[in-house]
Amino acid sequence: MHAATAYAHPNIALVKYWGKSNDDLNVPATPSLALTLGDLRTTTRIEAAASEVVVVDGHQVRDAKIERWLERLRGAFNLPPLRIESSSDFPANSGLASSASGFAALTLAISSAFDLDLSLQEQCEWARFGSGSAARSLHGGFVALESEGDVCRASQILDENEWNLAIAVAITSDSVKSTGSTAGMTASRETSPFYDGWLRATIEAFDLGLVAVKNKDFDALAKIAEASCRQMHALMLSTEPALIYWNAATLNCIDAVTRMRKDGINVFYTIDAGSHVKAVCEADVVTRVSEQLSRVDGVHSVIGSGIGGPAQIKDSSSPGKVSDD
Ligand code: PMV
Repeated sequence: MHAATAYAHPNIALVKYWGKSNDDLNVPATPSLALTLGDLRTTTRIEAAASEVVVVDGHQVRDAKIERWLERLRGAFNLPPLRIESSSDFPANSGLASSASGFAALTLAISSAFDLDLSLQEQCEWARFGSGSAARSLHGGFVALESEGDVCRASQILDENEWNLAIAVAITSDSVKSTGSTAGMTASRETSPFYDGWLRATIEAFDLGLVAVKNKDFDALAKIAEASCRQMHALMLSTEPALIYWNAATLNCIDAVTRMRKDGINVFYTIDAGSHVKAVCEADVVTRVSEQLSRVDGVHSVIGSGIGGPAQIKDSSSPGKVSDD
């Protein structure tokens, strides 16, 4: 065993998943399609310790998700108690996918520290047990996540250099999201009258989204991604009790992005389980889009990002990608 540090970028879903077909194995009920945010990252360091310690953004925590994940991992591998130190350079637990980059970096760091010799596909499976979207953060660029039975496969559709898009993230709140994704997804499946329609619409949107990404068809992707976002939030609103992640600034940003597109700027919005708005645009207009969003009522700040690469081991030239079998 040796200490190891890995980092991973968060990803944002363009065709979203919300709902699981197997809660225990954390299998998404639908495929999803995402892009990686290169200028945001979570860095995680692993070392053996006398007793288990988890430190997130400088604070020692007891995190039930991480504990359950480690228990599962210990069912497969013989691991000593660990000191896990993880920090993100962006707001955590607010719908900015910190659990995706967190579990991707954690999986890669442990795999490296204990020479577990996991293939990329195996890393994706372990990361997914922690957070469904984490499997997508091990790859860079545009990534699809699909399941066959209880096995999921993440695959790269375009790498980070193949389509010159960028993302302006409008931060619209300081608070942590009200309901975590696991509890929210279960509630939607159990209470929303729209759940089956959402599954059907997402499967169709995924196929169309794949074609749009492969063809680098911005207009088609804008339409598909905005519809998937609104449909997911409609499902959330129709859940009992309602899952309302948006605030007034979220709506103001949707309005601003819609107006920019009417004015001929290639930009579209997407929003995950939180109030922040991600505006995806062509890279040459990201400064303009960021400036306009920063003037929107209720926006605290705007983070600009390019598209990111795969999760990586730090202090080493070897990338996170090992054999992809
Ligand atoms: O990764 P999870 O299981 O916490 O769920 C992520 C859910 C969304 O971010 C809202 C959508 C998605 O596909 O990433």
